[in-house]
Amino acid sequence: MKKLLHIVLLTLLTSTSLHAEQLVIAHRGASGYLPEHTLAAKALAYAMKPDYIEQDVVMTKDDHLVVLHDHYLDRVTDVAERFPDRARQDGRFYAIDFTLAEIKTLRVTEGFNLDEQGQAVAVFPSRFPMWHADFTIPTLAEEIELIQGLNHTLGYDIGIYPEIKAPWFHRHEGKDISKAVLNTLKNYGYQTKKDKVYLQSFDPIELKRIHDQLLPNMNMDIRLVQLIAHTDWNETMVYQGQTATPYDYQWMFSEDGMKKVAQYADGIGPWMPMLVDNSSTKSNIVINPLMHYARDAGLEVHPYTFRADPGRIAPWAESFDDMLEVFYHQVKVDGLFTDFPDKAVKFLDR
Ligand code: G3P
Ligand code: CA
Repeated sequence: MKKLLHIVLLTLLTSTSLHAEQLVIAHRGASGYLPEHTLAAKALAYAMKPDYIEQDVVMTKDDHLVVLHDHYLDRVTDVAERFPDRARQDGRFYAIDFTLAEIKTLRVTEGFNLDEQGQAVAVFPSRFPMWHADFTIPTLAEEIELIQGLNHTLGYDIGIYPEIKAPWFHRHEGKDISKAVLNTLKNYGYQTKKDKVYLQSFDPIELKRIHDQLLPNMNMDIRLVQLIAHTDWNETMVYQGQTATPYDYQWMFSEDGMKKVAQYADGIGPWMPMLVDNSSTKSNIVINPLMHYARDAGLEVHPYTFRADPGRIAPWAESFDDMLEVFYHQVKVDGLFTDFPDKAVKFLDR
């Protein structure tokens, strides 16, 4: 704890400003340093002075909104040990099958996979040690109160960047997660495009519904960001009866596609290689047409996810700073999602 406090104070004292022109978005908090989406990771991110802090949001059985990347609990908690008979047939433990009270009893750790022996192996071995310290899953309201409280005590104006996770799944389970997220945002004063919030989703059908129906009905008008996936990631599914098929994203990668997105969204969140082709070399950066189409359509561009861990540097870059240099200065993105917000803030300060 002493070490954590030291890092927080040091970061506060050494970075200088928020960035009005190009944004730093703390992806799942300062998730390069502390387990993703814990309040500790959000407090540490705050101290690094990004412009926005991200929340992935899913719904519990009793309709609470919690900040969790997957709609499963098993990648980052001890749910399998604590509730061994609560997995669905696919072996996963769904947040939507647990009450908030149950979820609050779970311990959170660094993300892990199970090896062939069923042992948990950290996805990022150089990150925070597994099962160290004591972390829990926050609600969306708790996290907003933390950020707004720090805005009050420290005097910065750091925004929030919630993502509605798998709305297609929640809809199929009979839950209107989008309405619940918008209600929470409204309750905490995020109502117009001037407020420091971007609301993101991978699901174009839901984002369009939010733009066309929910926002006007709720007298709200906040900025929306269309996240872009490749179809075969199965990020968004479309149900016909009980059969789900992957949503086809191909139309988005065209000039006309970006114009269509601009009719309901203010920006896009593409995966890094969708903008800078992996065939690039350091001396020949190939910027893909999607970037130009988005610009021409008047969309903001916030790519994900910039990671400094070993093995996560783009093939055309020698360092994390090389990646930032290309995306901020050559591609000229409006902002980017990073697990290491301190590094992006320092880069922009320089
Ligand atoms: O929301 C931007 C980025 O976070 C998208 O990827 O999977 O980390 O939510 P994911
Ligand atoms: Ca996200």
